[in-house]
Amino acid sequence: MFRVPTHVMMEPGCVGELPSYLEARFPGKMLVVTDQGVRRTEWFTELESGLPDGARIVDGIEVNPKADTIDRLASEGRQADIEVVVGVGGGSVLDAAKAIAMLLTNDGSIAQYEGRNRFSNPSAPFIAVPTTCGTGSEVTWVSVVSVPSTGSKISVKGDGMFPKAAFVDADVLATLPTPLIASTGMDAMTHAIEAFISRVNNPASDALALQAIRLLIQHLGPCVREPNLGDHRAHVMHASTIAGMSFGNADVGAVHCLSEGIGGLLDHPHGLLNTLLLVPVLRYQFTEIRDRLKIISTFLGAPRPEALLDRLDHMISGFPIGSWADLAIPTDAFGDIASSAAANGSNSANRRTMQAIDYFRILESL
Ligand SMILES: [Fe+2]
Repeated sequence: MFRVPTHVMMEPGCVGELPSYLEARFPGKMLVVTDQGVRRTEWFTELESGLPDGARIVDGIEVNPKADTIDRLASEGRQADIEVVVGVGGGSVLDAAKAIAMLLTNDGSIAQYEGRNRFSNPSAPFIAVPTTCGTGSEVTWVSVVSVPSTGSKISVKGDGMFPKAAFVDADVLATLPTPLIASTGMDAMTHAIEAFISRVNNPASDALALQAIRLLIQHLGPCVREPNLGDHRAHVMHASTIAGMSFGNADVGAVHCLSEGIGGLLDHPHGLLNTLLLVPVLRYQFTEIRDRLKIISTFLGAPRPEALLDRLDHMISGFPIGSWADLAIPTDAFGDIASSAAANGSNSANRRTMQAIDYFRILESL
């Protein structure tokens, strides 16, 4: 099955149409969820000036959004009779806003809804404005939430959680720091590649994944070096959204299982972890995914799948994002991370059967 019920606007400058869209379609009492970095930008100030009087803005979403923050904001939102949620930010903000929208119509706390379709009522209308080029959350039904008390990340998903609309505006990347363009862009690359090599792919997810990979291979490097070149920026932003449509209908795999295991325990940023893990994890699974990688590399005009991995490695090594060693992941955490990765809901989507020992070996090799 393939579906994307979200209305998707994909034009540079389209964020300017958000206030009139909201007024026409979702005129209810509004909560805008963002973070402090986005709130400081000029374009957000302009957007804010067009929102209806009484729109409530919260900017306290942290990296890897925490269950307690989401529960608190949802409780405040219920008390304030919020009817519509707008998320403006990267993956952390969009996942938090999506979770809050679900909790506005379903009592309790986010952790009790872990899994698929565990809630009864459809979310309050949720509109997503991505401000990074990686998450894909603007077109998926899933919210990934950190639960610090257990050192893990949980996925909450359901038919009622798809955003009503996404405003994908590449112009907002102009204010995104270069290392974040690189790491979130590689998160998008990881979404596309993992969707394509997933066991649960389909022809539509494949088509979107291939196009996303091609756009990112061609345009992410130039976009990192020259973020103000509009064409590169737009291609990268659009690749991120179509990669989201792809993995939302096919799943991710071992890279995400491992990065979520690390992120849940140690709070490192998701995109950065995926960027650093992508090639080592693909190499670990190479025998089982070789045929799928060959289709990607042929599509890109260089049939040897080994060359694709070398090309990705080369691309990543040129990005200003630091190294694996900088993350200082303690070796005594490897066991817990590996167990968490193996228990991830996406682990079954891998073509190579991945057990905790496999994730442990990858960590040891890094
Ligand atoms: Fe991701």
